Amino acid sequence: MSSLAGQVVIITGASSGIGEATARRLARGGARLVLAARRPDRLEALARELDPSGASVLAVAGDVTSEADRQQLVAAAQEKFGRIDALVNNAGYGTRGPVELVPVELIRKNFETNVFSLVALTQLVLPGMRARGSGTIVNIGSVAGRIARPLSSIYDSTKHALEALTDGLRGELKPFGVRVTLIRPGFILTEFVDAANKASDTVLENAGPYAKYMAGFRLGYQKLRSVAGVPDDIALLVERALTSRNPAPRYNGPLHAKFFLFLKWALPRRTLEWITRLRT
Ligand SMILES: NC(=O)c1ccc[n+]([C@@H]2O[C@H](COP(=O)([O-])OP(=O)(O)OC[C@H]3O[C@@H](n4cnc5c(N)ncnc54)[C@H](OP(=O)(O)O)[C@@H]3O)[C@@H](O)[C@H]2O)c1
Repeated sequence: MSSLAGQVVIITGASSGIGEATARRLARGGARLVLAARRPDRLEALARELDPSGASVLAVAGDVTSEADRQQLVAAAQEKFGRIDALVNNAGYGTRGPVELVPVELIRKNFETNVFSLVALTQLVLPGMRARGSGTIVNIGSVAGRIARPLSSIYDSTKHALEALTDGLRGELKPFGVRVTLIRPGFILTEFVDAANKASDTVLENAGPYAKYMAGFRLGYQKLRSVAGVPDDIALLVERALTSRNPAPRYNGPLHAKFFLFLKWALPRRTLEWITRLRT
């Protein structure tokens, strides 16, 4: 076990949901935090709450898709704390809708946030970690990175990409003492669904022949609420990864996520197709 105390951790997407819960949990463990997201009011309120003195928590507002903002984030962390021990790549959102109708621009935007910006930010912190021979990269993937569903496959494919990226990075960085892991949340009650609806509203309003299936898709989410987890379920897994000397390649949670991943492993593809089929 390594200790959280004193670790300098950048958390992207810290203004709500899983990122916010992770900030709270890591702060309790004595980590020094750099909180990043676009909404400065939320970030600053959280930073003040976690550390009124401002000595160990820094809020840096910015858009993860902006190169200038990413550079500013890493520079601010370096300037304040002198090093970066861990990066939690959590910022992300989902795009809904049938592949036929989602404008390619919206697809690009989703990949830009969930995949390309994650890689670009990781690239900025790696030279320092490699030079010191230690550090941890925690990517927030999803069960959707293993199980793609109709009407969600744009988002799901961004999370599938993180599976491969994490494995490659993990192997590349092992000789340099830098640890990489992927956390796969199941359904967690956060602002995620609202953000996904907002990001996809034009598609959802013009879904044409798919409209009746979109209603079924939403109903599926409503039903899942009874088994949904809370953000701290995932924050706990981030803490586990950051305090392990040898983090697992994957952390899955809560329980329903493990169950769905077991089904993916155990069931024939056609049976999974039947389970995830379009419904009205
Ligand atoms: N909730 C779930 O069921 C679930 C399941 C599996 C995986 N996940 C993953 O968990 C991660 C966190 O999601 P969540 O559930 O906590 O949702 P959330 O409450 O909507 O949080 C998303 C966070 O990402 C930030 N963000 C989004 N786009 C950004 C951008 N361009 N630049 C900077 N920050 C950005 C948002 O902050 P601002 O709006 O302030 O920028 C917010 O803090 C995501 O990667 C998501 O894919 C969630």
